[in-house]
Amino acid sequence: MCGIIGIVTKRREGQTAEIAVECLDRLSYRGYDSVGVATLGDNLEVVKMKGKVEDFSHKFDVNSIRGKVILGHTRWATHGPPTDYNAHPHTDCSNSIAVVHNGTIENFRELKAELEMLGHKFKSQTDTEIIPHLIEEFKRRGMDSFSAFKATVNAIEGTYAILAVIRGDNRIYFAKKYNPLVIGIGEDTNYISSDIPSFLPYTKTIVVISDDEVGYLTADSPLNGGVYIEHKGEKIEVNDRIKIINWDAESASKEGYRHFMEKEIMESPRSVKETISGLLADIDEVMKAVKILKDSRRILIVGAGTSYHAGLLFSILLQREGINAIPVIASEYYNYRTSTDDSILAISQSGETLDVRLAIGKFKAEGSKIISLTNVIYSEISRQSDVSLYTSAGPEIGVAATKTFTSQVASLLLLWSAIKDEDFSYLRNAHIVVEDSLSLSGKASAFGEELAKQSNAYFLGRGLSLPLAMEAALKVKEIAYIHSEAYPAGESKHGPIALVTQGFPVIFINGEEDLGLQDNVQEMKARGSKTYSISINKSLNTDREILIKVNDKRLFPLAIAPLIQILAYRSAVIKGTDPDKPRNLAKTVTVR
Ligand code: AGP
Ligand code: GLU
Repeated sequence: MCGIIGIVTKRREGQTAEIAVECLDRLSYRGYDSVGVATLGDNLEVVKMKGKVEDFSHKFDVNSIRGKVILGHTRWATHGPPTDYNAHPHTDCSNSIAVVHNGTIENFRELKAELEMLGHKFKSQTDTEIIPHLIEEFKRRGMDSFSAFKATVNAIEGTYAILAVIRGDNRIYFAKKYNPLVIGIGEDTNYISSDIPSFLPYTKTIVVISDDEVGYLTADSPLNGGVYIEHKGEKIEVNDRIKIINWDAESASKEGYRHFMEKEIMESPRSVKETISGLLADIDEVMKAVKILKDSRRILIVGAGTSYHAGLLFSILLQREGINAIPVIASEYYNYRTSTDDSILAISQSGETLDVRLAIGKFKAEGSKIISLTNVIYSEISRQSDVSLYTSAGPEIGVAATKTFTSQVASLLLLWSAIKDEDFSYLRNAHIVVEDSLSLSGKASAFGEELAKQSNAYFLGRGLSLPLAMEAALKVKEIAYIHSEAYPAGESKHGPIALVTQGFPVIFINGEEDLGLQDNVQEMKARGSKTYSISINKSLNTDREILIKVNDKRLFPLAIAPLIQILAYRSAVIKGTDPDKPRNLAKTVTVR
């Protein structure tokens, strides 16, 4: 799930490495166990290390790294532990070729053995290192650089976004299968990266690369042949692919906040507002999705992690209307067989998650119609779908999903109302519910501070509050490293309660009155638990409580979402962890 960047410029040497490292910093949500840069000038130079991008900037004088063609990489290891040697870029034997790679090469063992027989010497344990050696091998056999690159791409199996520089020209060669690649067109500088926000301060003009495409990039404009792309030997008309995006560069910076996560939670009202107006402006697409969903025998709602929780909430809403809706954890897709009578709603912030892509690939092949809800235009998942809907949350850099979750929930409430033929003008005020709830963030922070002292916690909810409790437990687990579990509150007495002793924290998410949570609070109190609750409109009489007033009850999940995020954020800050880059995680999970 690494982040890769390539920059090729006509500017004087010396500025590019600085820009590349800055772009890498914005990519580091994708992986942050090692970092490296290769520059191609008169020589090929590689500087790399185990650690984060900020450590790299402290250790090396980035300004002194020269070259008009530069590659950068921030890693999330799949093959070989995070070490200086395993950090990318990887080079060939003669130090003439450098490669950065996002993905995994499945046949690397066989290829490595063959290359070793031919005398190639390997320095790392990564799968990636076979790529520069293969290019070198094909070049040795007389191929020109582009042909050698293409022959390499044909030889490897797996998932990849690859960038390569080869001494002899000022090009960045690229190839893509499954993992994302997007080109940014600048004035005298072109960029190629795993995502748009990395180069957003420099350009909004983009070209998205599709699967099975290969090509190269120079510093020239596309009109002058600066971008060359082919698909299975056919040249692609690049000018038809150029798009201008409307994200602003500020949204990819911290703007004075200590962490992206905090900034992004605070941006939730705006994200929700823009999401609702974006969907209303694209109402024809929404209605297309609604028609497909209504005409289906079953609806499978597919997502991973936080997006799964948004999907679970939606499935409950639909089930309550008598609609056959099944929430599916994306990585468990093989348990389901669909048909032309079924439809799929794939939910993914990034639009890239491999588990979701594999799931919709199978269901599409079985004849089901695919609707997607993503936050990234032209994302992989959107392009695989029959109908693509978008949240307009803006780029989310913090690894923990926050404003995108709240925006997914707002979008799903709109879909739900549209399915019921209900007037959905009430959603125009959805952002105010989020805003009002954030005025209680001091109280959620206080809960977070108490939780930071604990090593275990339960989050309990019933009905629509259960997915929110699950999301709270995930957030606390992933950024504050506190072992937290969510259960349907009624289920807690069937086992989980055995762990409850004096002072054990149990946080109730109480969005819908009268589902019986009151009894569960008493059961927990009777065993000495310290009880907390986040309640809508009616008190639960827990030891500590946040009571939120929401006039239109349909909107209540939008009031709870930002507060559970603040709670988790504050616990992480108190514990001193980095909520933007939690250990072992990456924002975009493009491996199985
Ligand atoms: C969110 O906080 C998590 N880091 C993670 O569970 C995430 O929601 C999951 O990987 C799905 O990502 P997606 O929405 O981009 O598909
Ligand atoms: N497989 C490569 C490595 O381990 C790239 C990892 C990735 O993109 O996640 O270095």
